[in-house]
Amino acid sequence: MVDVEQFVDEKIDEIGDAIGDAEAVIALSGGVDSSTAAALAYEAVGDQLHPVYVDTGLMRKGETEQIRETFDYMDSLRIVDAKDRFLDELSGVTDPEEKRHVIGEQFIREFETVADEVDADYLVQGTIYPDRIESEGTIKSHHNVGGLPERIDFEGIVEPMRDLYKDEVREVARELALEEIISERMPFPGPGLAVRIIGEVTEEKLEVAREANHVVEEELAEYDPWQALAAVIGKATGVKGDNRVHGWVVAVRSVDSRDGMTARAQEIDWETLQRIQSRITGSHENVARVVYDVTHKPPATIEYE
Ligand code: XMP
Repeated sequence: MVDVEQFVDEKIDEIGDAIGDAEAVIALSGGVDSSTAAALAYEAVGDQLHPVYVDTGLMRKGETEQIRETFDYMDSLRIVDAKDRFLDELSGVTDPEEKRHVIGEQFIREFETVADEVDADYLVQGTIYPDRIESEGTIKSHHNVGGLPERIDFEGIVEPMRDLYKDEVREVARELALEEIISERMPFPGPGLAVRIIGEVTEEKLEVAREANHVVEEELAEYDPWQALAAVIGKATGVKGDNRVHGWVVAVRSVDSRDGMTARAQEIDWETLQRIQSRITGSHENVARVVYDVTHKPPATIEYE
C-alpha cells in the first residue's frame, strides 16, 4: 500500500460500485480487521451495510459495550445476544477443531438469520493477506475466512483489505479515525476465549480466562506486544488461605510478530510477571497458579488450541 489516503478513496469507490443499491452484511467481531472493513464499507454505502455483532459470550471483557459505543453512529448496527446458545452448543466439546467447528456453525446460524431479515445480497469481509495464506495451508481452520461465503448464498463477496498486512490495516483504521482502542487493539481469534481454554468451555473457565486476559492486556501494554494473552490450561494443586485447592492453571503469553505466521515470546521483567501473577491468582478463588510461556512460534502456535 503506497498511500493510505488514496487507498481509502479507491476502496470506497470500489465498494460502492460493487454493492450498488443492494443491501450488504458484515460480521463485526470487535477486532481491527472487521472494524476497519465495516468503517470503510459504511463510508461507501451507509445504512445499506448491516454490521452484525454476535455476542458469543466468548469475547473479551467490555468488548460488547465497546462495539456499541464505537459504532453507535451506524443506525443499521445489530447486536445479537447469543451467549446461552453458544455455551449450550459447546457443552461437552473438548477437541480444539471440533470447538472451532461448533462455534463456526452457530455463528453462521446467527448471522444467516440477520442476513435473511435484511435481505442481504452482499457479504463484506475483513479478510487480510495472512488469513488467506494460513487458510491455504492446513495449520488451522479459521472460521472468519471459511464458512460464510460457502454456506450462505450471496450475490457477491467484498474483501477490500485482502492484500493488506495487519500493520497496513492499522494505518487504514487510523485514516478512518477509528478509536485507538480499536485501531491499536491486539488481534483476537474468531472463536474468542474458547481457544484460550483447554478442554471443555464452561462458565467458570470463561470467567477466569476473561479476567486474566484483561489483566494481561493491561499489564503488558507497555511492551507493545503483537498479542498478549492468558489461557486456562488445566488444574493443579495450590494453597489459598489455610486450604489446599485443586485450582486452575493460567498460562500467560506475550509475543512479537509481524503477521502472526511466526512469533517470538517476549522477555518480560520479573516485577511485571509477579504483578500479573498476583492479580490473576487474586481474581478468582479457584486459580491456583500462573505460568509464563517462553515458547516461540514455531514450534508452538500463538493460541493454545
Ligand atoms: P496461531 O494460534 O495459529 O494464531 O499461531 C495465529 C494468529 O491467528 C489467530 N487465530 C485465529 N483467528 N480464528 C481466527 O480468526 C481462529 O480460529 C484463530 N486461531 C488463531 C491468533 O490469535 C493469531 O493472531
